Amino acid sequence: NLSGLDLRAEIDRLRKERNAVILAHYYQKPELQDLADFVGDSLDLSRKAQATDADVIAFCGVRFMAETAKILSPDKIVVLPDMDAGCSLEDSCPPEQFAAFRAQHPDHIALTYINCSAEVKGLSDVIVTSSSAEKILSQIPADQPIIFGPDRNLGGYLARKTGRNLLLWPGVCIVHEAFSETELLKLKAEHPDAPIAAHPECPAVILDHADYVGSTRGILEYAQAMTGDTLIVATEPHIIHQMRKSLPNKTFIGAPGADGNCNCNICPYMALNTMEKLYLALRDHQPRIEIDEDLRVRAKKSLDAMLAMAS
Ligand code: 13P
Ligand code: SF4
Repeated sequence: NLSGLDLRAEIDRLRKERNAVILAHYYQKPELQDLADFVGDSLDLSRKAQATDADVIAFCGVRFMAETAKILSPDKIVVLPDMDAGCSLEDSCPPEQFAAFRAQHPDHIALTYINCSAEVKGLSDVIVTSSSAEKILSQIPADQPIIFGPDRNLGGYLARKTGRNLLLWPGVCIVHEAFSETELLKLKAEHPDAPIAAHPECPAVILDHADYVGSTRGILEYAQAMTGDTLIVATEPHIIHQMRKSLPNKTFIGAPGADGNCNCNICPYMALNTMEKLYLALRDHQPRIEIDEDLRVRAKKSLDAMLAMAS
């Protein structure tokens, strides 16, 4: 029974005792973002996980992010507060089916979004994040055929933006897929001067209305730089916590789903992590990420290619 515990103080005590670093994604609950040593987008979190000299990485994010940390830092103990924190994009791309798809297109290389399993990373040539995809794509020769998976929305966005012909895997993020164009246009009519910042995991009907498209870090930088006082944010709404902290006098509105509010766009996987589970993970070193060494080495190749090409 944890009810009598000052969880924040206990987490701080264990973080020191265990020589742990707490990494958090911008889609985590505010209390987890606030106690983390570092909050970032997928690329920055990978870089932090690779560079840390802590003994333990407590990853407040989803499983593929914690797996990435373990692949890049195999000697560290990596804990994830809730092992069920998966991702619909990962689920949309079973490794056997991805391997079969690759086998059907032997002349294509596989450029793969980091939101996938370690197995799919092992079957890929280069991993990308939303903040690095365009830069990495620009380094691949124009005549090289490319499979892009698992996110068909990010892939479609990249294809439209760069004019490249990408062979898309049909996966989607259930969170970004849930935004409603009709409700967004109603909101925009109420706030005609407010720009829309959107994550590239949104479908094209949403991105078509966006003034800015980018990763979570990119959206935060756009908010910092904007001159107006209101921003409509088309990504998981917990990111708005950072905006309200650093820009308390501005107004941030989460883009709506079909029910007219942004609560249906909370990521159910990210939401599984809690203060209680983080405390237990630091105390018990469980749930812990373990990856078979042969798989880790295969997956690391495509992640190393990302880190080199994104730098
Ligand atoms: P980024 O933070 O890299 O933009 O990724 C968003 C996301 O959906 C993570 O699951
Ligand atoms: Fe996966 Fe979407 Fe949740 Fe990100 S927001 S972890 S892509 S389900």
